[in-house]
Amino acid sequence: MTRHYNFCAGPAALPVAVLERARSELLDYQGRGLSVMEMSHRSDEFIAIAEQAEADLRSLLGIPDQYKVLFLQGGASMQFAMLPMNLLGGGGSANFIQTGIWGKKALSEAKRLGFACHVAGSSESNGHLAVPDEASLSLSSDAAYLHYTSNETIGGLEFDYVPDVTRANGSDVPLVCDMSSNILSGPVDVSDFGVIYAGAQKNIGPAGLTIVIVRDDLLGKAPASVPSLFDYQMLADAGSMVNTPPTYAWYLSGLVFQWLKNDIGGLDAMDRMNQRKAQKLYAAIDGSDFYSNPIATANRSRMNVPFVLADDRLDGAFLKEADEAGLLNLKGHRSVGGMRASLYNAVPEDAVDALIAFMADFEQRRG
Ligand SMILES: Cc1ncc(COP(=O)(O)O)c(C=O)c1O
Repeated sequence: MTRHYNFCAGPAALPVAVLERARSELLDYQGRGLSVMEMSHRSDEFIAIAEQAEADLRSLLGIPDQYKVLFLQGGASMQFAMLPMNLLGGGGSANFIQTGIWGKKALSEAKRLGFACHVAGSSESNGHLAVPDEASLSLSSDAAYLHYTSNETIGGLEFDYVPDVTRANGSDVPLVCDMSSNILSGPVDVSDFGVIYAGAQKNIGPAGLTIVIVRDDLLGKAPASVPSLFDYQMLADAGSMVNTPPTYAWYLSGLVFQWLKNDIGGLDAMDRMNQRKAQKLYAAIDGSDFYSNPIATANRSRMNVPFVLADDRLDGAFLKEADEAGLLNLKGHRSVGGMRASLYNAVPEDAVDALIAFMADFEQRRG
């Protein structure tokens, strides 16, 4: 069996050590004679798995006690709807910073549901090549929260700051962040945020699980008309088990958290590895006339590195040969074309070295 290097934007590479552990426990979980997939979510065994995963995530991210961690379904996209449904119950407007396709989807969904929305900042005028200056952000006077996407997975644009949400009168507007594609890539100060959410299928675990970290004062705001499965308070009260949760994805994510803690040594160490991987690839792109990436240096994503070839007629050959060389899923998103190498936590530095060597060789032969 050969495992290739997987640069997929999501569902993405998982750590080999995690897959091996899951394999070893697949048929018989710790002598219980059944798989985690076959357990009741209310069994003592699964409750222990669930609690351990939450405890490990809390310790990795330093999540303060006054936050709940929800393990949900529906993907990050379902949060585009759940957020305004939960946080705008009392009126006010949702404020958005637009830096690409995912932020735009979050805004469109809130609008579609009839909520008042305000664009507090946007990089649309520069083609999403640089995030807006922090000083240029303008919150509406009745802002109930400010939503932004810390890393735009398709455009490869990452914030280099956490927006300051202090109003002129000193009160704070809750900051809501879609961290789907850079959560756990390095440390963050969770106390800066009202809500952090992320689909699991990049840096957390397999698809099917969505993590929502929500500050206690933002619970209990949904009107009674909101369905129970969409109500943060009800989900928190039920320990994310209003109905059957995605048990296997929860378990596998727990293994990823243990890998991050024990094998990697925590998020500072992960951050250093991610910086190194991304710097190498951007240096290779910048050092060539054949490959290019147009994003402002300070906002270049460490997780998703889009690049184009000088001659796009070679795109097909590049992808075919890369695939044959064991470098998988380098095709850019269908909306933008070109290439994209996603360098999530589980993509080893060796993969980046192999990609850079392939790119140099391809340029030499075809450039
Ligand atoms: C930043 C970001 N937000 C939201 C989503 C949507 O996630 P899901 O497919 O889990 O709904 C994605 C998916 O790639 C994403 O990258």
